[in-house]
Amino acid sequence: MKIKLGLIFGGMSTENEVSVMSANSILKNLDKNKYEIFPIYISKSGEWYQYDNLENIEINENMQYMKKLEDIMGYLQSLDVLFPVLHGLYGEDGTIQGLFEILKKPYVGCGVLASSVGMDKAYTKVIFDKANIRQAPYIYLKKYKDQYTYIDKDFNEKKVSLEEAADIVEKEIDFPVFIKPANSGSSVGINKAKNKEELKKYIEYAGKFDKKILIEKGIGGKEVECAVLGNDDVMASCVGEIKPADEFYSYDAKYQNEDSKTLIPANIDEEVSNKIRKLAIKAFKAIDGKGLSRVDFFVEDKTNQIYINEINTLPGFTKISMYPKLFEAEGIQYNYLLDKLINLAQE
Ligand SMILES: Nc1ncnc2c1ncn2[C@@H]1O[C@H](COP(=O)(O)OP(=O)(O)OP(=O)(O)O)[C@@H](O)[C@H]1O
Ligand SMILES: [Mg+2]
Repeated sequence: MKIKLGLIFGGMSTENEVSVMSANSILKNLDKNKYEIFPIYISKSGEWYQYDNLENIEINENMQYMKKLEDIMGYLQSLDVLFPVLHGLYGEDGTIQGLFEILKKPYVGCGVLASSVGMDKAYTKVIFDKANIRQAPYIYLKKYKDQYTYIDKDFNEKKVSLEEAADIVEKEIDFPVFIKPANSGSSVGINKAKNKEELKKYIEYAGKFDKKILIEKGIGGKEVECAVLGNDDVMASCVGEIKPADEFYSYDAKYQNEDSKTLIPANIDEEVSNKIRKLAIKAFKAIDGKGLSRVDFFVEDKTNQIYINEINTLPGFTKISMYPKLFEAEGIQYNYLLDKLINLAQE
């Protein structure tokens, strides 16, 4: 009996297009003898569609093959395993995972808690602090109308003006700093500031994307990534390096600038690389991760110190994405990876 696999993609986040690319690769590489595949597309505005014609299917909004799903719950209920190939809000943040839990359906990847913690940069920081994994010093602000609230490490709150917020940052951390909306993905809303004027401008800008804002010390060094796979027995891939074409790995450098390069394995000492693998597994377990994640780090130039940057619970999954490439470098093929992830979901 073939496994009825629901492949859910698209989604209501800014990363809808990236998701379609990931889903296309996955669809092509799934073993059709093992799986009966049911592609499900979620549009940017949140409508769900099923596909009628499964011969040579193309994933796009070509309405010819797509039929609006009226009974979403019923349709999902009829499937055996669900594979959310969704990035960002409403896909990677625990919300859709909550729906799968209610339906009692096995699904690929992290559960509700790990997904939501991994999506919210402020809360990831809290968990990583607790796990004693080094990260860049940071300041956490909340925005309410034109007023800011500074939240200290003990979660005491203090109302501050933009000017006062910038003063706190200046006092606590050295420039350059990175300003990020807490729920950002694909670097949207993120900027690097070299002085107080830029800092204020970018705090205001980040506030357009999220009410929660993080300001972090910029770490000068290599940007490296490690992929993890498993539920209880977790394995880590080799470490890969990113060479952004821009001053940092901005949206443009990620998707539009072909001069951005990746290097597998990363140009770092074996000892550092082994530490990173261990830390990647530790970070994954600390947020209660399941299935897969890509864990991103910085290795500081002068000191070789490792700083964790973030964890992505549903990393990009095209054939040329970092996650599958890191495992491929270890001899684990893309289609094996898919089987493994589906097995882990059923576990
Ligand atoms: N503290 C820091 N020091 C140096 N560079 C940083 C720092 N924080 C972020 N960056 C740069 O900004 C980029 C985007 O930041 P980050 O990875 O936190 O955002 P993101 O939007 O969540 O990305 P993703 O799409 O991977 O989820 C990083 O890839 C890196 O190039
Ligand atoms: Mg990132």
